[in-house]
Amino acid sequence: MLTKTRQNLIAQIRGYLANGTTAMSDAVFTNPVAAYASSARLQLEKQTLFRDYPILMAMSCQLANPGDYLTEDFSGTPLLLVRQKNGDLSGFINACAHRGAPVAQGTGTRGSGFTCPYHAWGYELNGRLRNIPGEEGFNSIDRNDYGLKPIPVIEKYGMVWAIPNPAKNAAPVDIDIDIDTYLGDLAPEYASYEFSGYHHFATQILEPKINWKMGVDGFLESYHLSVLHPKTVSPLYFSNRSTADGFGLNHRMVAVRKSFAKANDDAELERDFLLHTNILYTLFPNTMFVYQRDHLEIWRMFPDGDEPSRSKMVLSMYTPEPVTSESAQRHWENNLRLALDTVEAEDLMLGEKIQRGYQSGAQAFVTYGRNEPALAHFHASLDKALSVKDKIEIKQG
Ligand code: FES
Ligand SMILES: [Fe+2]
Repeated sequence: MLTKTRQNLIAQIRGYLANGTTAMSDAVFTNPVAAYASSARLQLEKQTLFRDYPILMAMSCQLANPGDYLTEDFSGTPLLLVRQKNGDLSGFINACAHRGAPVAQGTGTRGSGFTCPYHAWGYELNGRLRNIPGEEGFNSIDRNDYGLKPIPVIEKYGMVWAIPNPAKNAAPVDIDIDIDTYLGDLAPEYASYEFSGYHHFATQILEPKINWKMGVDGFLESYHLSVLHPKTVSPLYFSNRSTADGFGLNHRMVAVRKSFAKANDDAELERDFLLHTNILYTLFPNTMFVYQRDHLEIWRMFPDGDEPSRSKMVLSMYTPEPVTSESAQRHWENNLRLALDTVEAEDLMLGEKIQRGYQSGAQAFVTYGRNEPALAHFHASLDKALSVKDKIEIKQG
């Protein structure tokens, strides 16, 4: 983080603690419950946000070496990322040009390319079709038309984004390949971190019965901490005390640890800023990038199928050092378990009840207070990206 930014944040937080307040937006924001419960809205989100926008897929460390690959279809499109021999990263639709079988599964390393599990068509790492068993059956086709379909991939600051839509000009920014435009003033902030040296510890997937956006919402205010998390989070963090800054469609919120108030002076806070805070970046549209004092948690929320009340929450944890000893392994496993248990037992347990209420049509709208500015920013960004008001009349059901 840039020194000036850190100093500004420290001054803001000091002010909030002294005055018993928090970052405020200009006005209360109301959002129709249909945003969480309408099938039409979900379809629009799937077609727009999860196809045309850069989706954070991984950190570079997950694809460190030539031949390393990663597959994923959470966005609704089967994707394959591959580290090339020259170190570049490529992205493809993970579907064989013959009859559509995924050519790669899971993650791994494949120095010699991919062989489709259906009829064994072979592809190079760069997606080029290499061989067709029983070739005489396909003598009229031009192999050049039968490679894996490329998608735009961006790698910067140790992070990897993909745009699932193979029709590249559908991208909302000139992604060839300017992620900095997309990040705005967060770009120099990410440039100041050294995430390319981080190590992937583990990824876990939850399947809560909530709208995917509610998964994001859970991170976007500190108002609920003392009420919903009295024993887990609240002993460590102040409630209703956090900063909020928008960067285009993206956002940064800083939650404040109680230790912040015990620091001796600004010099100590500047030096140990991360020891006393928790930085929560919303990377539009679906990612919470949580930078904690000794690790990174990346929570990615996706719709699961066509039900507005189903989602997948994908948590990946990264550490600055490789986890090599048994005690470190145990430490990080406990850390991961604790994060999942708290979210599952407290946030999601309540979230599923809230979602059932939304589905019932009992309530027309929800309200984000002025003290919940990150929520307002997130939902205003969604409305902007979806042009909800122009494009579709959202109705319940
Ligand atoms: S679907 Fe891949 S070889 Fe037939
Ligand atoms: Fe929570």
